[in-house]
Amino acid sequence: MIRYIDQVDLNGKRVLMRVDFNVPLDEERRVTDDTRIRAALPSIDYALERGARLVLCSHCGRPKGKRVERYSLKPVADHLSALLGRAVPLAPDCTGPEVEAMCNALRDGEVLLLENLRYHEEETRNDPAFAASLAALCDVYVNDAFAVSHRAHASVVGVAEKAGECAAGFLMKNELRYFNRAMENPVRPLVAVLGGAKVSSKLGALRNIVERVDKVVIGGAMANTFLKSRGLDVGASMVEEDLLEDARGILEHAMERGVKTYLPVDAVVAEELRDDAVTRLVPCQEIPAGWMALDIGPASLNLFSQALYDAKTIVWNGPMGAFEHAPFSRGTMGLAEAVSRAHALSIVGGGDTDAAVHRAGVAGEISYMSTGGGAFLALLEGRELPGIKALEGCSR
Ligand code: 3PG
Repeated sequence: MIRYIDQVDLNGKRVLMRVDFNVPLDEERRVTDDTRIRAALPSIDYALERGARLVLCSHCGRPKGKRVERYSLKPVADHLSALLGRAVPLAPDCTGPEVEAMCNALRDGEVLLLENLRYHEEETRNDPAFAASLAALCDVYVNDAFAVSHRAHASVVGVAEKAGECAAGFLMKNELRYFNRAMENPVRPLVAVLGGAKVSSKLGALRNIVERVDKVVIGGAMANTFLKSRGLDVGASMVEEDLLEDARGILEHAMERGVKTYLPVDAVVAEELRDDAVTRLVPCQEIPAGWMALDIGPASLNLFSQALYDAKTIVWNGPMGAFEHAPFSRGTMGLAEAVSRAHALSIVGGGDTDAAVHRAGVAGEISYMSTGGGAFLALLEGRELPGIKALEGCSR
């Protein structure tokens, strides 16, 4: 059983809260998308209102155990200060005597952000001594970093084994609640929409999903492998030849289970993936030699929208085409609109899908936008997240 932050006494306690502030920064090192920072605010506000001495910790990028200035959390500290309307000091590191002294000097209701955890390679190794040094900073450990909870890192797993008390934050609670509503206990029909470039990265998710859903919609470049497995010639489209057998097996298994599968029937094709590429719209049976399918066509969008029409629950991960290039964006934008129009509980996860939904301007119409990329996919694969397991195993 996971305990949540509102089930723990925080007053006057030193609280170490793991958040995921791995956010995009521009060249001037300003935060360009603060969704993840805002998503942590309910737990942060709650802890401060309850008189916690709050120490926030996060990773940013992949500095691989080195102190790399461009991965500093300074811009995040500044951004968070503006959001909270109070100064959020940044500690010079996340471990060591100076950091300990800063944490111990906090008064009730004060907050401090530690510097990037991944400046230490012990973090990603889940090093016990490093985890113990984090645990020594707190009386209560709170994990509100859903998006990194698929990683067995020291600040996600090791620290939970060593801290005095453990709890999950409100963001974590929301992520798990929505995901479970969709996948464990769904109002049916439950439709999964999977897209993106590679079957290989979605194979586990596909296998798990087929056991649970009523319909599966497959788009994006990964659809080419499925089309080819059905005997279509997809020209120069990206195909994972080594996965044709797996793709065929998934389609057959879905059919045996009575799960309806939807693949593209037409495609926007080009010889090059460029913003000014010459494009053609063709049925998937007629992709010319040397041309690549780079987006679903209007007939596919229509078909997919029909598949969503009676859905009561929709889970979507992965774009329908190379939507970051204008000529190949219509399918993904159209699908975002179709998901937003459906009278269904809709859950969207993954960085690209999230960006597409925002670009389409329909984020407000989606029931829940997950902050997870890899973590969301891991849940779709039916895997238990190490960060969740650590909280469950923590009886304190
Ligand atoms: C993410 O952006 O998906 C999380 O912050 C995890 O980052 P990572 O893939 O570098 O572990």
